[in-house]
Amino acid sequence: MHSITSTLEFAQQTAREAGELIKRLRQSELRTDFKKGIELVTNADTEADRFIRQCIEREYPDHQILAEESNPDLDSIEFDGRCVWVVDPIDGTVNYAHNHAQVAVSIALIIDGNIEIGVVYNPFTDELFHAQKSKGAFLNNRPISASDKQDLERAIIATGFPYNKQAQLPILINRLHKVLQHVADVRRLGSAALDICWVACGRLDAYYESVSLWDCAAGLLIASEAGVQCGHFIKPESTQYAHLESKHLLLSNHQLYPAIEEILRNT
Ligand code: IPD
Ligand code: CA
Ligand code: CA
Repeated sequence: MHSITSTLEFAQQTAREAGELIKRLRQSELRTDFKKGIELVTNADTEADRFIRQCIEREYPDHQILAEESNPDLDSIEFDGRCVWVVDPIDGTVNYAHNHAQVAVSIALIIDGNIEIGVVYNPFTDELFHAQKSKGAFLNNRPISASDKQDLERAIIATGFPYNKQAQLPILINRLHKVLQHVADVRRLGSAALDICWVACGRLDAYYESVSLWDCAAGLLIASEAGVQCGHFIKPESTQYAHLESKHLLLSNHQLYPAIEEILRNT
């Protein structure tokens, strides 16, 4: 029987080892491909996914795994009374393949539909964000918290865009246009997991985007434990697992949330 503390240690250790692996692979010859002709993927994405999966299967053989490269099918997952690992082996693949530093391994554990553990590790800056439910959020073991900015005109807000953006371009640009009219500036950093962790540690004031569960699961716990308000600017269908909905995410400090929600609503 594993304790939650030893499971958190396992997740941190696995994220660190996967981080070392992708760091090493970037120094050797990288092979790139395009999923469905548009979505960049490298051999490091698949190798890190396999590594993390093997670690989990060895330690927790009866747990389920939702992982971007090896099992991205959310319909194959049952949350009810079950333990589910949610893995993005490389979040920020485009950054990774272009030698940028904004890249992370993201690992979360969901138990009975609640995110209990979240770990996001950037091996290029050696920054490890982690949270355990009700125990606070940490960057390299130091407590972190959301910004306390109140003035929307001074706010720095991150977002991102899907790989397949043509059909949604008018909506995405309209949203960006509206947000830019009201805030100091916008960032597109290229890793949703890190965008969320950066809101959690106050480097950013807010973040909005539609992503997949593996992009945001670990970050959502880290952010909410850091005092970030985590919600949706278009409300998801109200189901038991609405809090796991990864579309139309809005994360912000509490002071700015209502104003940003108002701007993004109806977009
Ligand atoms: C992507 C990044 C990016 C976000 C995309 C994601 P990937 O993940 O998180 O910031 O805008 O929507 O797909 O493909 O690098 O794992
Ligand atoms: Ca991702
Ligand atoms: Ca990925």
